[in-house]
Amino acid sequence: MTAPTPGGRVPDARISAEQAIVHGFDHLAPHYDRMIGVIERLAFGRHRGWVGARARGRVLELGVGTGLNLPHYGAAVAEVIGLDLSGQMIARARARARDLGTAGRTDLQVGDVQRLDLPGSHVDTVVSTLTFCTIPDPQAAADESARVLRPGGRMVLVEHGPSTRRWLTGAMARVDPAFQRWAHDHLLRDPVPYVRRAGLVVDKVERRGVGGVVFRVLAHRPH
Ligand SMILES: C[S@@+](CC[C@H](N)C(=O)[O-])C[C@H]1O[C@@H](n2cnc3c(N)ncnc32)[C@H](O)[C@@H]1O
Repeated sequence: MTAPTPGGRVPDARISAEQAIVHGFDHLAPHYDRMIGVIERLAFGRHRGWVGARARGRVLELGVGTGLNLPHYGAAVAEVIGLDLSGQMIARARARARDLGTAGRTDLQVGDVQRLDLPGSHVDTVVSTLTFCTIPDPQAAADESARVLRPGGRMVLVEHGPSTRRWLTGAMARVDPAFQRWAHDHLLRDPVPYVRRAGLVVDKVERRGVGGVVFRVLAHRPH
């Protein structure tokens, strides 16, 4: 049994949500591209080209994973800073950048997007794809994104969340606890309220994919 501290509180012996994500995604990393490829084909659709076409200047990618968006950044992108909690996911993203010949403009690091080690107004674009569903404190990530975006800078999101069909949202609600527990995935997390509460202006929300479960979001930091 865990001994109480002098203050009377029992220290929490469980691992943190962040440690669980590292553990889970380090193990998933070798299989991630195949798995997400199937899900995109069957349910989400293809959105990485849409994201890449909207990124400009210095880009911060939240939860960059294995770097599946890297091939889609064009000449308008000067630099990509990609952060992820999982070292194994980052190792694959670095290998992809090397294979693409873009390692020189790409800085891929293990890091926590809930506490960014970047100055304010540092980036032109913040990108997040399929990551808000996993971040333990999405409001902290949205607030940090707003802080590091320059005024007028853009946030580009492709995330999944509740369906536009009530029956599908109901079905998702039944399996959501298992997804949260085993895949660190909140199936029903709508990303838009976090972005608004962070003080960003939401310019566009499009619903895509099977039952509208995919949210394509464009927002910007006001001047
Ligand atoms: C479902 S994957 C998505 C990866 C990638 N964005 C993509 O589109 O394929 C979610 C990623 O978010 C990362 N992640 C979760 N919470 C994070 C945090 N607080 N800071 C940085 N990365 C985080 C996980 O390690 C994982 O690689």
